[in-house]
Amino acid sequence: EVSFKLADHPKLPKGKVVAQIVLDGWGEANPDQFNCIHVAQTPTMDSLKQGAPEKWRLVRAHGKAVGLPTEDDMGNSEVGHNALGAGRIFAQGAKLVDIALASGKIFDGEGFQYIKESFKDGTLHLIGLLSDGGVHSRIDQVQLLLKGASERGAKRIRLHILTDGRDVLDGSSVGFVETIENDLAQLRANGVDAQIASGGGRMYVTMDRYENDWGVVKRGWDAQVLGEAPYKFKSALEAVKTLRAEPKANDQYLPPFVIVDDSGKAVGPVLDGDAVVTFNFRADRMTMLAKALEYDDFKDFDRVRFPKIRYAGMLQYDGELKLPNKYLVSPPEIDRTSGEYLVHNGVRTFACSETVKFGHVTFFWNGNRSGYFKEDMEEYVEIPSDSGITFNAQPLMKALEIGEKARDAILSGKFDQVRVNIPNSDMVGHTGDIEATVVACKAADQAVKMIIDAIEQVGGIYLVTADHGNAEDMVKRNKKGEPLLDKNGNIQILTSHTLQPVPVAIGGPGLAPGVRFRSDVPEGGLANVAATMMNLHGFVAPDDYETTLIEVV
Ligand code: 3PG
Ligand code: CO
Repeated sequence: EVSFKLADHPKLPKGKVVAQIVLDGWGEANPDQFNCIHVAQTPTMDSLKQGAPEKWRLVRAHGKAVGLPTEDDMGNSEVGHNALGAGRIFAQGAKLVDIALASGKIFDGEGFQYIKESFKDGTLHLIGLLSDGGVHSRIDQVQLLLKGASERGAKRIRLHILTDGRDVLDGSSVGFVETIENDLAQLRANGVDAQIASGGGRMYVTMDRYENDWGVVKRGWDAQVLGEAPYKFKSALEAVKTLRAEPKANDQYLPPFVIVDDSGKAVGPVLDGDAVVTFNFRADRMTMLAKALEYDDFKDFDRVRFPKIRYAGMLQYDGELKLPNKYLVSPPEIDRTSGEYLVHNGVRTFACSETVKFGHVTFFWNGNRSGYFKEDMEEYVEIPSDSGITFNAQPLMKALEIGEKARDAILSGKFDQVRVNIPNSDMVGHTGDIEATVVACKAADQAVKMIIDAIEQVGGIYLVTADHGNAEDMVKRNKKGEPLLDKNGNIQILTSHTLQPVPVAIGGPGLAPGVRFRSDVPEGGLANVAATMMNLHGFVAPDDYETTLIEVV
């Protein structure tokens, strides 16, 4: 039985309202024309920076500091919010899958043994994001999975790909398809009937999140499961190249397509008796498909046909819902998160974002757990996102509305912690539209101001940080840091996150005099923020939490 009782902080009082603001995709980088945060007018964040080093500092938000396999791994929202919420660094999905594949244990586990029972008479379908982005999935893991499954009896394999262009450069889909086609050709040479069966761009097909738009998942279902799509091709390479040229979609938004045989018949619908593995390790954008594949009772769209299959996720995506029931690798066991501790110590909590990031400050924050810890102590508010648009068309997103909800929660006197995620710099940064991203950064800064103003009114405290970088660098660079040009002499737009550190700023009238950032945690990362927050609420963090960033002098 875990005790959630926290010790009192020897110097810091309880009962102050603390706002925790997470700017999504807001890193620190050299000020140049590709740094949208620098180009944008961000007076609030600029003035916080003036507080360095005592009230403003940088923390690490990528690589090992957030449980990713290597220092070359950029940060992302899942691992960033996990670290912020849990206060400890857990080996994350990317790494756990690497380990399980390297040892071969993935193939001995219950999940693989379960799907293997379909190999004799059924087809093995692999569905997921095909890139080396390392945020949701990695192509090298798919290659090892293909190899391992075929060596263990899979005789008919169908791959359903989602093209990326968001965690990797736009246009890189072609290379990834070539790579995987080579592997599939090898398998065919060894007598395995293996090919790509369908595809589409991740933002238009399958990978929606937090139930923003079920139509996205349905488009994927139709292609993957029913074998129906508006575009039909003989090969995936042809599909991707053609659709990029006409209707001129980018990788993120390729329309759904199916691969057909000479008679025009889809080569890989999912049928009774088949096995399906969704090979993304990250949860948010696989949960909706997992529900469609797993739940008997399902009403979010008309599945038309619900095949009797054996389904496993690369990981279990939701520990609370036990979704999916079968999985190849156990997810990180992120327990005893700061949110759970704080509610058990009387901290009434409010969390808010708009749909596309709502689960970040709730589900990811709470260790990939959906729902409340103590319903009467918590309120989570979701502001519906605009759907069916790319966010460069609407770069203000719901920043103002989030700011207002947070302000109202702060002024209501009903909450001790008010936590928000402001998505603009990330969501617009991912579109690669530099001008719109500048607008997005300005909007995010204004939302921060609204919240800080409310904190000033109630004598509270604020802590402003970010989960990883994005908008501060919008160009692909060489090792020397110079922008890379493509063969036409154009700069290569960076739609992805970055390896940059992110700011943490503290302040507000409720911050006790003498509170400042310590200088002896130079390598501090996002996981150190949780203990810091506990201090601001008047508590000392549990011993095994990463150390606090602040001291009282
Ligand atoms: C996405 O899912 O939108 C990107 O792959 C990662 O963005 P996020 O980690 O900021 O959500
Ligand atoms: Co992002």
